[in-house]
Amino acid sequence: MRKYVIAGNWKMNKNAEEAEVFFKQLADYCETADLNHTEIIVCPPSLYLMMANDFLYESSVMLSSQDVSSNNYGAYTGEICADMLRSINVPYSVIGHSERRKYHNESNEIIREKFDQLVSANLIPILCVGETWEEREHKQEFEVVKNQLESVIKNNENISDRELPTFYIAYEPVWAIGTGKTATPNDAQIMHKYIRKLLSQSLSRSSSEAIPLLYGGSVKPENIKELLNQDDVDGALIGGASLKFSDFISMIETAIKM
Ligand code: PGA
Repeated sequence: MRKYVIAGNWKMNKNAEEAEVFFKQLADYCETADLNHTEIIVCPPSLYLMMANDFLYESSVMLSSQDVSSNNYGAYTGEICADMLRSINVPYSVIGHSERRKYHNESNEIIREKFDQLVSANLIPILCVGETWEEREHKQEFEVVKNQLESVIKNNENISDRELPTFYIAYEPVWAIGTGKTATPNDAQIMHKYIRKLLSQSLSRSSSEAIPLLYGGSVKPENIKELLNQDDVDGALIGGASLKFSDFISMIETAIKM
């Protein structure tokens, strides 16, 4: 049976009180939920990660930061490094989100450095890739995604070829993020299959099959089932719809029942 991954990316939302209510509710929910085949990941603002751990350490919920520094400890004001995340038991970090690429000018080279920092600290990167609408209109979506992926994984000796995934990928077409427009399940499947093929060129077949491929971009309770139904869609990275507790649970429940 396949394992589905439901990841909630809060972005810069919720104050501390609201975060606390959410973590408590999630911890309560997990006490009775059947999560043997569903992995829940929450990516709150880093400021709340330790609080999240206090509430969720007994549950199977995994925590992720939304970004990480491309450097290790040192004079980098405002940054958080991979080893700091490791030291507070946060196993995942999103990197390469399109909002980081756009608002913070993050290049594929920087994202590779972040990837390497995480893998060296034994953390699992959730690497985001995805094309803009303009690129899709010019039929460049495959080339863009290939570039984003290969600039990070190609000839990267930090990636070990083993069946336990050393990283996750989230395909998030930029035009679908926060816009209410979603890629059709078929479009998502076509890109995911392509990504799987690219992975198999750098990794063994079994390792490339073990890498979870999440879809992101306006995923909500109404469309998640169809997306998860696709052969190469292993889960979802959800922004807006993950903020409302009842919607987040409804999407987890859909995954549980698949
Ligand atoms: P969205 O965001 O679900 O609000 O479209 C997804 C993401 O950016 O990860």
